[in-house]
Amino acid sequence: MSETTPIPAELIARLRQAQRVTVLTGAGISAESGVPTFRQAQTGLWARYDPQQLATPQAFRRQPQLVWDWYAWRRTLVAAAEPNPGHFALAEMERRAPHFTLITQNVDSLHHRAGSRAVLELHGNIARTKCSREGQVVETWPETDERPPRCPHCGAFLRPDVVWFGEALPADALDAAIAAARAAEVFLSVGTSGLVHPAAGLPLLAGEHGASTVEINPEATPLSDEMTYCLRGPAGVVLPALVAAVWP
Ligand code: OAD
Repeated sequence: MSETTPIPAELIARLRQAQRVTVLTGAGISAESGVPTFRQAQTGLWARYDPQQLATPQAFRRQPQLVWDWYAWRRTLVAAAEPNPGHFALAEMERRAPHFTLITQNVDSLHHRAGSRAVLELHGNIARTKCSREGQVVETWPETDERPPRCPHCGAFLRPDVVWFGEALPADALDAAIAAARAAEVFLSVGTSGLVHPAAGLPLLAGEHGASTVEINPEATPLSDEMTYCLRGPAGVVLPALVAAVWP
């Protein structure tokens, strides 16, 4: 097993007495579940596509079937994945901390499947489908060979209920995430490259409001130098160790 940073005693004490704990997760927490991170090379027939070119409204307008098929492929990947010890550790932390908020950039439902109850999904959820014109979530539609299928209500193409590049984040989730970052006494940033705003700004906002901020990631990120602590290691190893140390 790769070496992981030992957990500082003052972080354990701070987390144990914290009333409000906020966590931001990115694709890295699902890496050990076998879900490729957003910036990892794509595999198989999708290898030649750059996700940043597919996850856009323009790509959907130009090639709706390609984008629909790409998300269908990612949905099968996610459905085959299982939550890992990192997801379960955060579900346990939610049960232990007096006030706990989990903010995720992931669209893979693994936090819900691990037992996390209050999850703020900043970038939507790949399991949900919505009308590309009216925006409402559509649960069922008539069987069809057409891809994408069409909204039973207005006939426009259906699309995944995820945030694409250039699109606004769900305002209610973002507002709640900002409030939870400002209120946090401890803020964990787990498995995110810290490249995409506004999510990447949340750890810094927490730090500006007095939180102890912790980065959990095998690699350094643009946020590392601003963090109070950097725990270098995989989330599936570091988070269970942290929970066991704080709440034995
Ligand atoms: P990235 O793929 O950008 O970053 C994944 C991070 O996880 C990297 O910093 C890796 O070092 C780290 N990592 C890899 N394995 C890990 C492990 N086992 N444990 C912990 N960390 C690990 O994914 P995100 O930061 O989530 O937005 O990307 C943020 C957003 O960029 C995505 O939500 C997506 C993309 O644009 C939209 O789709 C709107």
